Amino acid sequence: LRVGVLVSGGGTNLQAIIDAVKSGDITNASIEVVISNKKDAYALTRAKENGIAAESVCIKDFESREKFNDALIEKIDSYNLDLIVLAGFLVVLPPELIAKYRNRIINIHPSLIPSFCGNGFYGLHVHEKALERGVKVTGATVHFVDEGTDTGPIIYQKAVEVLPGDTPEILQKRVMEQAEWKILPKAINDIANGII
Ligand code: GRF
Repeated sequence: LRVGVLVSGGGTNLQAIIDAVKSGDITNASIEVVISNKKDAYALTRAKENGIAAESVCIKDFESREKFNDALIEKIDSYNLDLIVLAGFLVVLPPELIAKYRNRIINIHPSLIPSFCGNGFYGLHVHEKALERGVKVTGATVHFVDEGTDTGPIIYQKAVEVLPGDTPEILQKRVMEQAEWKILPKAINDIANGII
């Protein structure tokens, strides 16, 4: 399975995927490219350190959103991918891309969808809202991407306890370590091996 990973930040989910391929937790899949909308995303450094093609397509380099969208689609198409993984990618995908890769795009979201998701719910903010609401359990979700925000069919979820004294940062770290970095590689492996 030819996999492309789209990133915007530190790339700890990407690192979990890279490690899972190395350890054999992911089989029958290869990460062909990492694409970021940020030239300085540390995720691109992680790609280069692992001999993976690292590309950036930045909105500010284009005269219009349409031209950015076309460039992003062209870049993705050039790698002949079977699966696109959004791992902390903070750009709304062009509907044309979603249509073209229907049921071949997955996303990791740091909550138990349908809680704390939708427009504006990403990164640390998700955990701030979970703590504000006082939930005792949160977690992460891997789902297929459709035209909505965090609305596609759910593939895997993993619950994580919220503990007294948790700050958003502490909770985010626990959700990443105990949930995101486990269910995202599992989803990729299971798609690559026809389990999903
Ligand atoms: C994190 O908030 C994670 O929960 C979400 O994207 C953000 C960046 O993750 N999936 P990463 O370290 O860039 O993978």
